[in-house]
Amino acid sequence: MSEKGSLSDVNRALDRYLPRKSKLARAMRYSVFAGGKRFRPILCLAVAQALGKPAKKVLPFACAVEMIHTFTLIHDDLPAMDDSQLRRGKPTCHKVYGEALAILAGDALNTLAFAIIADRPAAVLELAQAALTVVEGQVADVTAPQRRLTLQKLRAIHRWKTAALLSACVRGAAQLCGATGRQLKALTAYAEHLGMAFQIADDILDVTATAAQLGKPVRSDVKKGFPYVVGLNRSRQMAAAEKERALAALRPFGPKAARLAELARFVTERTK
Ligand code: IPE
Ligand code: IPE
Ligand code: MG
Ligand code: MG
Ligand code: MG
Repeated sequence: MSEKGSLSDVNRALDRYLPRKSKLARAMRYSVFAGGKRFRPILCLAVAQALGKPAKKVLPFACAVEMIHTFTLIHDDLPAMDDSQLRRGKPTCHKVYGEALAILAGDALNTLAFAIIADRPAAVLELAQAALTVVEGQVADVTAPQRRLTLQKLRAIHRWKTAALLSACVRGAAQLCGATGRQLKALTAYAEHLGMAFQIADDILDVTATAAQLGKPVRSDVKKGFPYVVGLNRSRQMAAAEKERALAALRPFGPKAARLAELARFVTERTK
């Protein structure tokens, strides 16, 4: 992803927040620095830019979101869930550190995330609500019937397990930047469509990409993905339609929203 400057700011801040000296710290750092795209923190920074505010206003929040995201990935990969061996191009946390430490590293990242934004209650609430929704989404995902899912149910799962956290990035960052009610409403619409496009793209890549490209196993979630339920072509059309709706929601912001628009395009064009 572009904007190397802000990416290194995020990585430096994450490094400062994470503990250093314990087995637990090593497991946490292993997953956080395994090589993710950092889509969510970059999204937070792009919201600040669209609202004409400096990145530093949202940097702690951006790190908190990436910690929550990484925690959900560590747990998503556990044998009790998706039982994945590869994440971010490396062996999964539980493969390297064992299941107990992987569970605990997830727990610690979840807690640390809230500690670093504790002085910003509105952001805490946004993130807490989203994290609960993600957990509900994961429950719905793992308990979904093996027979063909309806499109309606699949969309609901995607909204909960993925779009909710992207919405929290946008809404939390917007509130930290003093967005007006109108701005918040437009940005929320952007985020909801962006989130849906993001997970449809994840499902498409699950059937079209290679593990080497994605850094995680492929064909792992086939029956719970858009291509299985509506076909590949329709999945692509639906992702593109969500992207267009996300872009339309940005119109009131004009050129300041260029980064947010770029992120919406990235989501449907991405190959990893
Ligand atoms: C993977 O998210 C999990 C989903 C919600 C689809 P990303 O594709 O953002 O994974 P990283 O952070 O780059 O590893
Ligand atoms: C997981 O969805 C979303 C999370 C909340 C972690 P997936 O199970 O599709 O994510 P990947 O494909 O393993 O990254
Ligand atoms: Mg999963
Ligand atoms: Mg998974
Ligand atoms: Mg997936």
